[in-house]
Formats: sequence, structure tokens, C-alpha cells
Amino acid sequence: MSTNDKKFQSTSLASPPSFQLILKTFNKWTLVWFVLTALTTVIYGYYFQYELLQEGNSISWIISLAGYFFLFGLGLAILVLFIHDKFQSNDPIQRVFPVVIWGRKLLILLGPLFRQYLFANDQEELPYNRITRNWIYESSRGARNTIGFGTQLDMDKVGSYIIMPATFTNKKTKTGEEVGHKYKKVIGLHTGVMSVTLTHFVHISAMSFGALSGRAHEALNLGAKMAGILQNCGEGGLAPCHEKGGDIIFQLGTAKYGVRDENGLLDDDLLRETAQHPQIKMFEIKLAQGAKPGKGGMLLKEKITPEIAKIRKIPTGKDAYAPARHTEFSDVDGLFDFIDRVRKITQKPVGIKMVIGHTSEIEEVAAKMSEQPGRGPDYIAIDGGDGGTGASPLVLSSYAGLPMKQGVAVADWALKKHKVRGRVIIFAAGKISTPIEVAVAMALGADAVYIARGFMFSLGCIQALECHTNNCPSGIATQNKRLERALNVEAAARRVATYAQTLYNETQMLAEACGYDSPDQINSDDIMVVTSPGHLDYLSELHGISAYEASLERQRARGMGLSVGEMKMAENKQ
Ligand SMILES: Cc1cc2nc3c(=O)[nH]c(=O)nc-3n(C[C@H](O)[C@H](O)[C@H](O)COP(=O)(O)O)c2cc1C
Repeated sequence: MSTNDKKFQSTSLASPPSFQLILKTFNKWTLVWFVLTALTTVIYGYYFQYELLQEGNSISWIISLAGYFFLFGLGLAILVLFIHDKFQSNDPIQRVFPVVIWGRKLLILLGPLFRQYLFANDQEELPYNRITRNWIYESSRGARNTIGFGTQLDMDKVGSYIIMPATFTNKKTKTGEEVGHKYKKVIGLHTGVMSVTLTHFVHISAMSFGALSGRAHEALNLGAKMAGILQNCGEGGLAPCHEKGGDIIFQLGTAKYGVRDENGLLDDDLLRETAQHPQIKMFEIKLAQGAKPGKGGMLLKEKITPEIAKIRKIPTGKDAYAPARHTEFSDVDGLFDFIDRVRKITQKPVGIKMVIGHTSEIEEVAAKMSEQPGRGPDYIAIDGGDGGTGASPLVLSSYAGLPMKQGVAVADWALKKHKVRGRVIIFAAGKISTPIEVAVAMALGADAVYIARGFMFSLGCIQALECHTNNCPSGIATQNKRLERALNVEAAARRVATYAQTLYNETQMLAEACGYDSPDQINSDDIMVVTSPGHLDYLSELHGISAYEASLERQRARGMGLSVGEMKMAENKQ
């Protein structure tokens, strides 16, 4: 952990007042302050309260000095702080404004709290604004999701989605038949494995036991069982907290936690044994994660308990970093061989999770699937650069990987181009948490969606942004047992299931508004986006077309040995 991380951790407002935290506040400066205060008080007592001491009444003497200890303490604290601030070299402004600078530091620390509760408007906060969070909280509790008087959103705002309603339709759902009975997708039909049928389009995205607490995983798994959805256990391996009866997708991260040999490579016997678990329905090879493409999973040592270390087969007391990429393969052929290996051992569908960059990569996967029927992934999870994480460097989180919408459109287009779209299921992940976002993802080509942070909100997450510090105040992204106890597993599981069901019902409502039976019929001409004041474009004109154009342009430019920009300049000159 970097010094900055440590500082951030120790100053976190959500930190519980643990013994360790108190210990941390003792350093050479506090020691000097304490010794000076004690000495000054004793000297004062000796010279000015001597009578009491002479009377042999040392207890009264000490009590009479308590007030002075406080007063001297305060004065000396200011003096010591002044010297400290003047002599430290980390912060120039602290040297110019010693002592008073701490008022500024306090305000900075308290700022996020004040802004969140008092000043930030409902649509302002990131990554999830208050309207979205409240919608999830209410939906998870099964509260009525109706509003009076009309929308609070500005429908003319750039980026707003508008569903194209069908006024005249003969679809049977319009007669009030039970909603949603149409949605059904089968995974693994083309590769000779035990196929898996999805009857719900919302599933719980990968989050490991380690990133999240044991209770959080118990609630997610029980909630998945109640809702009839899948829970991806994340790259931390399978743990007892996953055994609540919910169906599991086992994720194989680059470190192969849970199924690795002593060299960190895939252990076939362990994988075979794991595949016997009745709850595990599919396996997922994680190639990359939207919040940190090019970097493997990170688990800071504060979160590595002996149980987690045993499950992952890693040591305690040391941050765990998974390699950036799989050592077993380095190209699409190697990936296909690895998928075959996992599929042969497990006899279950095998998917991949990836982040889209240049379109050529997913095109290569699609082309290979087309050349080699019966090979390749059973499903592809596209994670957007806008996705979440337990811990990630800010640079990757904020700048790497296409966002979900663009990524899904690219993948859908590439698979269609090579005529293999019908052989693979696309999961979309990346800041999807409300029905309109589910509808948009499906309109752009997703067959189902993966949600991580939305489900964390349903558990009770308050977006304290403390996932990486082990100090999550809601007991979700922490291994601190005291904080974890706040989470009631059964109640949280009910919220998880209710949230999944509300998403189902309300996305279905949007599909019906378009005149369809099921959301997988919504296409990218059924939703328009406000692209500038007074101007709307179809989704199909934005993300899909830009993927297509990008691919063509790059292909052409590479053929000429130029960058896309250079090619355009050359063409303009002609
Ligand atoms: C706390 C946390 C832990 C995560 N752990 C994993 C993981 O182990 N493996 C993985 O592939 N993705 C992991 N992710 C990423 C999610 O699975 C998901 O792809 C991403 O957050 C996008 O979904 P969201 O926007 O709904 O959160 C994690 C995300 C969060 C928030």
C-alpha cells in the first residue's frame, strides 16, 4: 500500500475507532506533546500547589492539577503543532500557515459528508447519484415505485434516453397477460456441455470473497436463489459463504485462486473437484475487468483473513496481486485451447469476461469461432470501462476500456459480422442498475446483464467509497467482523431478490411500452438519445455505427501503415 493510501486509510471518516487506529495516532510528535504537558503540569503543581502535596494528600493534588493538565495540553498542542508544521516538508502551504491549516484539512475531510447530505443535488453525485441510489433502495425493499406529478428529469438534457412507444400494437401482453414469461436464453448449446437456461436477464456480477465480506456473499447467494438468478463468485474462489443454494458462476482469474497449483497455474485436479459442486453451473475465464484492464485483481493485506488465505491458497500479511494476464496463453488460439481444457474437465459452459479496446480483438475471437464450430466461449461478458472494483489504480479506473454501451455494440456487431452471434450469449456489465439501463444494454445487443454495485446498494451500501480500505461502514466490502455484523443475511437476501425482480418487471414494462413481449426484443432503433438540444438520434446510429466505422478506418489505416489520423490527413490533401 502506498503512503498516500495509508494516510487515506488512517484519516477515513468511516474508520471504526479501533485500538490499532488509536495506536497509530501515537508518534514522536504526540509523545513530545504528552511529555511536555505532563512535565509542565508537575512543575506547576510543585511550585503553586505545594501545600496540598505537603499535607500528604497526593490524590487531591493530582485531581487539582487535572484542569491545568488540560489547559497546558491545549497550549502546548498548539506550540508543538506549530513547530511540526513549520519543519515538515511535505506540504508547502502548511509551512506558511502553520496550525490554522488544520482547519482547512478538517473541512476537506468533512466536505464529502456535507456535500452528500446537505449540498449535492439529487443528480449530481458519482458514480451513482441520489436518484439512482434511492430508486435501488426503494426497489430492494419492495416499495411502490410510482411518482406523482411527473418526471423530475429534464428530458431535453443531452444524454437522456427516450423509449419509442408503440401506440398501435396487437401484442398479447397488452391484454394484461402475465409479464415476462417469454424471456429464455440457453447457454452451451453449441459445445456439447450441460447447457444452462437463463429465465432472468439480470445476474450478479463477479465480486470475490475478500473484496466483499462473508455475510455479503451469503446474502447475495441466498438472494440469487430466491430470485432464480446466477451469482458470479468472483476471482477469489468458492467459499462456504457461497453455499446458500444459489447457482454459481465460478470465475477463473489470472491467479486461479482456489484452483491453483503451487506455481499459481491452473490445477486440473482441483478444477475437476470444484466442478463437481452442484451449485456451480458455469465457469468464466476473466481476461480483464473494466475498472482495471491490464491489471490483475488486487486484495490488500488488511482484507486477507486466514480463511480467505486458505481458500485462495495465498499467504496472509501481504497484499495479493493477481498477474495482469493469464500465463497459460497469449493469443486467441491459446485462449481457445484453454477454454477447451476447462470445458473438457468441467463439462460445463465456459464463458470469458473481457473489456473492449480495438475492435480487431473481438473480431478475431468471432472469426475464430466462425472458422472452428464447436469451439470458443459459450458466453462473453463485456465489462465496460465504467465498471466498478474493490480496488484499482485511479488511472485505469478512469481512463481504460470502452464504456459498456460502446463495448456491447462492438461485440454484437463483430459476432454478427462473422455469423456466430447465435452461438454465444452476451452479458453486459458496467454501471447498469436501473430498468432503462438494462433496456439500453439489451437494445445494443446484450442477452443479459451483470450487475455488481447495484446489488451492493440492495445489500445496504451507502457509496462511502471505502471498498479498498477494509472500513466499509455497511459491513459489505470489509473483513472487519465488527462492521460485518451489521448485515442481517436473510433480510439482505430478500432485498437482493426483490431488487432483481423489480428490475425484471420494470424492464419488462419498458419492453411492453415498445409493443414487445420481452426486453430481448428491444432493438437499438427503439431507444433514442438526446445528442444536442432538440436533437435525438437512435442508439443504432451512435454506438453501433461508431464501432463499425472505427473498425473499418483502423483496418484501412493499418493497411497503409498509418494511424487513422494520418490516413485522414493524407486523404484530405488529395
Ligand atoms: C467490490 C467489487 C469487487 C469486484 N470483484 C471482481 C472480481 O473478483 N472479478 C471480476 O471479474 N470483476 C470484479 N468486479 C467487477 C464487477 O464484476 C463488474 O464487472 C463491474 O463492477 C461492473 O458492474 P457494475 O457497474 O454493476 O458494478 C468487482 C466489482 C466490485 C464493485
